Amino acid sequence: MTLWQRCKRTVLRRREQAPSADSPSLRLIVNGGSCHVRAGSSLAAVLAQHGCRRSVEGQLRAPLCGMGVCYECRVTVDGRPHQRACQILARDGMTVRHES
Ligand code: FES
Repeated sequence: MTLWQRCKRTVLRRREQAPSADSPSLRLIVNGGSCHVRAGSSLAAVLAQHGCRRSVEGQLRAPLCGMGVCYECRVTVDGRPHQRACQILARDGMTVRHES
């Protein structure tokens, strides 16, 4: 699959799954604290609410491409490190860490 096809597939999938005002609220644990987001939100949206992570060299990092290419949005999800936040939809009860 080409990069263009992958981008197009991601955009179409996001349109179908975009949260609306009447979407139910989900509760996540982010860096040990409670967080509420709309169902259908990506973890990149959660990062936007809770700030940036730091690289191993201490530089601020945040989602850049939003389509799974740059890896600037890496988080630990339910104990699994290096997950791309822009590619994962929030689920109720999910535990996310983005502190380095
Ligand atoms: S924002 Fe680029 S991979 Fe997630």
